[in-house]
Amino acid sequence: MEDVNIKITDRDGVTHEIVAPTDMAMNLMEVVRSYELAPEGTIGVCGGMAMCASCQCYVLSETPLPEMSDDEEAMLSEAFDVQENSRLGCQIQITPEMEGLEVELAPES
Ligand code: FES
Repeated sequence: MEDVNIKITDRDGVTHEIVAPTDMAMNLMEVVRSYELAPEGTIGVCGGMAMCASCQCYVLSETPLPEMSDDEEAMLSEAFDVQENSRLGCQIQITPEMEGLEVELAPES
């Protein structure tokens, strides 16, 4: 079992250094929920189907992440507050390669 250290800045601008498991098939949105870094009902609204963008985050580190799927790209093309470094947290599975990842949660839309 391997854990990775991730920094997540919440919507109030507070940065949390958290430890996420890589062996539980969790995605970044689920990690944010499990640490209660965003109020219930404001993140993961579609349950991780790339259909709501409530899990949008900005990737601040150079950490290599998996390519976007067509679904993720399509959802982000319709979402608010999208930036160059936007990703959907629910589409990012936590793997050992994500050690040192830094993200910021996008504003609630
Ligand atoms: S939880 Fe809905 S798009 Fe990620």
